[in-house]
Amino acid sequence: MNRKPLVLVVMDGVGLTDKDNGNAVKHAYTPNLDALMATCPNTKIKAHGTAVGLPSDADMGNSEVGHNALGCGQIYSQGAKLVNESIETGAIYTSDTWKELIANAKGHTLHFLGLLSDGNVHSHIKHLEAMIREAKKEGVERVRLHVLLDGRDVPETSALIYVEEIENLLAELSDSTFDAKIASGGGRMVITMDRYEANWNMVEKGWHIHVLGEGRQFASTKEAIETYRNELHCSDQDLPGFVIAENGQPLGTIEDGDSVILFNFRGDRAIEISKAFEMANFDAFDRVRFPKVVYAGMLQYDGDLHIPEKFLVTPPHITNTLSEYLVKKGIRSYAISETQKFGHVTYFWNGNRSEKFDEKLETWVEIPSDVVPFEQRPWMKGAEISDELIKAIESGDYDFYRVNYPNGDMVGHTGNYEATIIGMETVDLCLKRLMDACDKAGAIMIVTADHGNADEMEEKKKNPEDKAKPKTSHTLNPVPFIIRGADIELKDGDFGLSNVAATAVELMGLEVPEGWNESMLAKK
Ligand code: 3PG
Ligand code: CO
Repeated sequence: MNRKPLVLVVMDGVGLTDKDNGNAVKHAYTPNLDALMATCPNTKIKAHGTAVGLPSDADMGNSEVGHNALGCGQIYSQGAKLVNESIETGAIYTSDTWKELIANAKGHTLHFLGLLSDGNVHSHIKHLEAMIREAKKEGVERVRLHVLLDGRDVPETSALIYVEEIENLLAELSDSTFDAKIASGGGRMVITMDRYEANWNMVEKGWHIHVLGEGRQFASTKEAIETYRNELHCSDQDLPGFVIAENGQPLGTIEDGDSVILFNFRGDRAIEISKAFEMANFDAFDRVRFPKVVYAGMLQYDGDLHIPEKFLVTPPHITNTLSEYLVKKGIRSYAISETQKFGHVTYFWNGNRSEKFDEKLETWVEIPSDVVPFEQRPWMKGAEISDELIKAIESGDYDFYRVNYPNGDMVGHTGNYEATIIGMETVDLCLKRLMDACDKAGAIMIVTADHGNADEMEEKKKNPEDKAKPKTSHTLNPVPFIIRGADIELKDGDFGLSNVAATAVELMGLEVPEGWNESMLAKK
């Protein structure tokens, strides 16, 4: 058959709501997106909660679960849910990995490293609490925490709430047999939690803070947070690293013989630090000292590369993905984004696999991201991504194209409303260029998003007279789903991101594989 090319655009972090205040999606000047919504078949689809495999509908969407659902056409129970279940049933404590971590930590120290919040995107404080209680029960005597401050999946200055909660627990559990303290920490966008190798320097800084105990010293985590806030006036995610010390001595460096648990369940920002703990030959930075520890992740973050080797909960085994299906049909596909979201359209898209199914049929292009706070460059690499993608569309070398524009999300996470407006307007300009390229190539376009963010840039006020606080996290709102350039109609129904893959293959003239959620196209 004479198949039309299909171009699928993910506008990261672009949700839809009628709410007016702080709605950068609504208030940006986006004539092209507006025209698409006014003239093309479109609907709103769910991108949060149970529709993407999260524990409940109170859970906002995120890029991992969003791209997983887009890329596999199914709903899998995700890390957040699987860890809850494993802790509830106690299965986690019967795993060989847990037993090894505990046995090894006796006479040494058990370290927990991870994002300290209840954001439920990368981690949940309740998981940490449950494991600390169990460690004490099983006879571990010394526990040290290395806490990454969030402010990105939760309100931007909420770190002290979580610090207080965890310190209360440590105080409750501490006695002559159990010594548990926070040893180090810092903002998640400054240390340790880099992703897709955008900035290894963050991980190096984290290594110095957590492992070597080198960094600015404070007597308590509260003191560190309050001091940095007074000095820098920044949100929690941007607070520098700190080391907790007594008489100049760090409270918990990581030493030979210790056990280390990375309690984040999401992989993108957990892979680099895991490599630093595991790899004998490691050249991303000079580790200075490489302690021999038993290291485990909450989940395995990369199933192809087996990172980390040891993990506590088995990740969702996502199979029968769109990429796999297209490769079987001999369809040539092309994926592009900039570094910050490159793994989203490749690794997350393919069910947390870092490798291609077929080198010949799949092309992946990464445009290097700027290494700056994105409120300073809200246009990000929109123009460069579009240049490359348009060249690829013009080449006619591919049948299926997918692209992620990060602006709504990455600029949205800064909490800066004006910059997010510019981010949205950038995406809109890019859409126009793509529309023209699709017209020339006779291509169909799908425009959608993975979850909301830019659509709510103000926290809900407690009292109407309060000053609005910037909101940095994702939202619960649905996202647009638009089809341009195809003579189709959409069915009525309650659809979500997991219905996109089936819709895409139908637009390519293929049958929907068994096990996928249904297509949104109405039968003619
Ligand atoms: C991040 O890692 O930047 C946020 O926690 C989640 O954002 P993402 O899901 O859009 O990547
Ligand atoms: Co985001």
